[in-house]
Amino acid sequence: DAVSKMTLEEKVDLVVGVGMNLSMPDMPIGAIKEKVAGAAGSTHAIPSLGIPSIVLADGPAGLRISPTRDSTDQTFYCTAFPIETLIASSWDVELAESIGKAMGNEVKEYGVDILLAPAQNIHRNPLAGRNFEYLSEDPVLSGKMAAALVNGVESNGVGTSVKHFAANNQETNRMLVDAIIGERALREIYLRGFEITVKESQPWTIMSAYNKVNGTYASENKDLLTTILRDDWGFEGLVMTDWFAGRDPVAQMVAGNDLLMPGTPNQTTAILDAVKKGELAESVLDVNAARIIKIILQSPVFFDYPYTDKPNLEANAEIARAAAAEGIVLLKNDDILPIKNQKNIAAFGVGSYEFIAGGTGSGDVNEAYTVSLVEGLENANYTVDEELASGYKTYIEEEKAKQPEKRFFFELLPPIAERPLTSSQVLAQAKESDIAFITLGRNSGEFQDRQLSGDFYLTEAEQDMISKVSEAFHSQNKKVVVMLNIGNVIETASWKDKVDAIVLAWQGGQEAGNALTDVLIGKVNPSGKIPTTFPITYEDVKSGENFPGENLPDSEEVMMGPISMGFPSKVTYEEGIYVGYRYFSTFDIATSYPFGFGQSYTDFEYGNASLSNSTFNGDELTVSVDVKNVGDVAGKEIVQVYVTAPDGGLLDKPALELKAFDKTGLLNAGASEALTLTMSAKTLASFDTERSAWIVEPGTYQVKIGASSEDIREVLSFEVSDELVVETVNKALVSDVAIDELTSK
Ligand code: GLC
Repeated sequence: DAVSKMTLEEKVDLVVGVGMNLSMPDMPIGAIKEKVAGAAGSTHAIPSLGIPSIVLADGPAGLRISPTRDSTDQTFYCTAFPIETLIASSWDVELAESIGKAMGNEVKEYGVDILLAPAQNIHRNPLAGRNFEYLSEDPVLSGKMAAALVNGVESNGVGTSVKHFAANNQETNRMLVDAIIGERALREIYLRGFEITVKESQPWTIMSAYNKVNGTYASENKDLLTTILRDDWGFEGLVMTDWFAGRDPVAQMVAGNDLLMPGTPNQTTAILDAVKKGELAESVLDVNAARIIKIILQSPVFFDYPYTDKPNLEANAEIARAAAAEGIVLLKNDDILPIKNQKNIAAFGVGSYEFIAGGTGSGDVNEAYTVSLVEGLENANYTVDEELASGYKTYIEEEKAKQPEKRFFFELLPPIAERPLTSSQVLAQAKESDIAFITLGRNSGEFQDRQLSGDFYLTEAEQDMISKVSEAFHSQNKKVVVMLNIGNVIETASWKDKVDAIVLAWQGGQEAGNALTDVLIGKVNPSGKIPTTFPITYEDVKSGENFPGENLPDSEEVMMGPISMGFPSKVTYEEGIYVGYRYFSTFDIATSYPFGFGQSYTDFEYGNASLSNSTFNGDELTVSVDVKNVGDVAGKEIVQVYVTAPDGGLLDKPALELKAFDKTGLLNAGASEALTLTMSAKTLASFDTERSAWIVEPGTYQVKIGASSEDIREVLSFEVSDELVVETVNKALVSDVAIDELTSK
């Protein structure tokens, strides 16, 4: 009804955002009056119809807005929650929902209507700069955790924007790169997580990706945004572009990309002209405008929600701390953790003092503080050696003084080089202290992918630090614990045998140091498990052979948008569905730490495993298993259910695939819990590109219940007598170039 009352100009106003305060020719700084300073963008109001403007703001680790405003001395800090990869490491959907709920409280109370999160692109390659904003190498874990985050945020009556749809798996040339992907890899890996999220949470909005998928920009791709997202999956919300994404506003309108963000005057002109010339049917605009109005009518601003600018920051900080501890992964522990009477701690590594709460770019948060490891220890009345600490602090100040100025807030500054140590200094320290902590820090973010040397691989100085500290402390019969304060996987195999314990703390948000200390002193028994494989070397990563793609020098495509990001290029996902553990397990490549791995301060036994059926006829299959805490401290256990489908039929199959997972509550020593996990026909199905159908092939299926992908505790099996065609979908997103895909044969 509203659309029928709108003029053409009003419809075009609605589908193009109000713009962004960037130093652009037709958008001088300050041109936009922002309702919420620091938000990412807003839509135009339509005053004649009483349709207000809605505010959109980042990001995946919490709301990102400016912490201060000229107009007042009130501050607008937000809670920096743990990064998504840490949340995925908890494998706890209830926890994810509670984090989303807390984030949504800040979105609503600061006057924002849509949070531009969660992000859920697959961890295709360790060097991708934004992996910290994403969840996993596996689509089931990604989809379930993202759905929980969406449900949590939206329980506040505010919206989300699940991103970046789809296949934004690198930063190199992100606005121009053409991701060339086979249909099966798309459906089973790169789209699957989004499909689960759409069907299990119905997010208010989706954000289309910068890159092309099989030759067409995601934001201009009707196969992606209409045929698959809406016709196949039943998505009911609106699609917005990523900021300045794509090239052709008319193509974006036709594709079903309803809202162009942040919006530029050129886009408005292009769409108006196209309608007037008959190149764009106004009925297309009507559909897109209606979808936007539907979202506006459910936004807080439409109800004049009296936001307070006072969200529950105290309570949310506690949630952030508890969440950070839940996602910490104990990779190694040669009976040293939790620490007991080691009171005097020698804290080595710049990272022990400069703790990283989260990554950079739009995934960053403007939080009021970040608790470092050392501060966390001190908060728990553990002292770190003062002389060593002051040496590091002096060194860090000197190195910071040499750093270049940040040119823009997104910029990722080069890391401070690890402090050189002498053997005599470390030996003297080893005589003084009871235990050594070493922190390795890594940061990354939007606009650039990571490096191999000094990033995926340790620097010389870091290797030297580990060797010297281990040698010295072991000579005094004392132990060494390494903390990984990282946002993406790094190399671990070359040095892990030198130390006694390794704690993967990821980037735990503003309360990171407190959460890590809670784990180190045993206040929290670590229960996290890695959502992404830690390979032995980068050469073992199959996608590394074609990451991040090759430039197309003779492409006539040039950057017309206001942000020129890289070169026209293409990247072909030759590994097909064999990404992450699907590759390592199928092709027998050893890993440093396998998918789903994580230790505890206690031990668990699995028993009494059973299946609801020994033959599968298309109804749900239920897996039951008892988990018992056979150690002597309380703890939680993540149980993973993998399926090995019969190979050698129509479709090649990975050695095993995650189909379901669950987590016990806190089990006291000796206690046990019965878990039941269900698998639907769709969950068990593989995608046959010939028929564009999800099928369950006949044969014997093995159900592998594991503590990790390589620690299988129970094996059950069921039969499928005849092929099941579970669902037929549209033929879409077919690449017009041949892709020589990897198969397991
Ligand atoms: C950025 C990111 C996207 C973010 C948006 C608004 O370039 O790609 O994740 O939400 O623009 O900041």
